[in-house]
Amino acid sequence: MDAAIAVLPGDGIGSEVTAEGVRALEAIAAKFGHSFRFESALLGGAAIDATGEALPAATLAVCERADAVLLGAVGGPKWSDPNAAVRPEQGLLGLRKALGLFANLRPVVPHPAVLDASPIKAELLHGVDIMVVRELTGGIYFGEKRRTAAEATDVCRYSVLEIERVVRLAAELARARRRKLTSVDKANVLETSRLWRSIVERILPAEFPEVQFEHMLVDSAAMHLLKRPRDFDVIVTENMFGDILTDEASMLVGSLGLLPSASLGAKGRGGLFEPIHGSAPDIAGRGIANPYATILSAAMLLRYSLHLETEARALEAAVSAAVVSGALPADLSAPGATPVTTRAAGDAVLAAI
Ligand code: IPM
Ligand code: MN
Repeated sequence: MDAAIAVLPGDGIGSEVTAEGVRALEAIAAKFGHSFRFESALLGGAAIDATGEALPAATLAVCERADAVLLGAVGGPKWSDPNAAVRPEQGLLGLRKALGLFANLRPVVPHPAVLDASPIKAELLHGVDIMVVRELTGGIYFGEKRRTAAEATDVCRYSVLEIERVVRLAAELARARRRKLTSVDKANVLETSRLWRSIVERILPAEFPEVQFEHMLVDSAAMHLLKRPRDFDVIVTENMFGDILTDEASMLVGSLGLLPSASLGAKGRGGLFEPIHGSAPDIAGRGIANPYATILSAAMLLRYSLHLETEARALEAAVSAAVVSGALPADLSAPGATPVTTRAAGDAVLAAI
């Protein structure tokens, strides 16, 4: 297969981890006889420095003509003045919106070889396999924002259509997995959540009778995720709850450095693939960041955008083999052990491919 892949390193450790993602994709292409063309573009702080905009038109054009986008991370102290007119994060949010990527899939699957990296008891982690589906282009992230000297407002708004499409996508995933869907909301307080709940109740029994579903309030979900993580299969939730719950869920896996994500739009269109972690300015440029979340995001790119399931599994197996071989970056290595560099972790994946 011939495919065009846009690469947006972004800021901080973004360039270090996407470099390993690209190397892994090149190795998969060589092994399976595909041809991937990579085109890089600026996003976030790097784009602000070069052009004054967080999402330059040239970057959006590169993404629109690509079959898929591999992204590192955006942001950093250099651009985090709360009064700044342009922020790196606007580039990422603008890109998700412009590409129509309404569903963000964040798989949470602890690796048996590094259960010790999690602050949660290992006995609770065996068999945990959760897919969080976070709504990505609506809610409080995208509602009207206002600020005066005396107050500030962020509007949380959801349309029926926005809720229906992400609930359907999550239910389809659940149907192909263990057929259980947990819809997380705050229906005891928020009107948007009450609408969300009513839509889940309409769609699930009518269109997905084989999928068992439940509602859970977000505060309670935050607790149950740590208390009985094995009970979850697919979780579907609105934008900000999904953002927060997935950082929490990363602790089940032991490190943000192991959590990939796929952002998808309407069927058949390209997607955006990025680790859920940030740009980690504190360790940027030192070659010690964990590239596995980005390489696993590249595997999701193979699966969801290029429909290369065998290749996706091969890459996931290679990351797993690298972890089992003990190639652990600083965020995963045991106290006293010598952590591997970003490049060495990437090398371990290439060797396993
Ligand atoms: C994420 C990040 C982003 C988000 C930030 C950088 C805007 O935290 O992808 O989870 O909140 O969506
Ligand atoms: Mn986040």
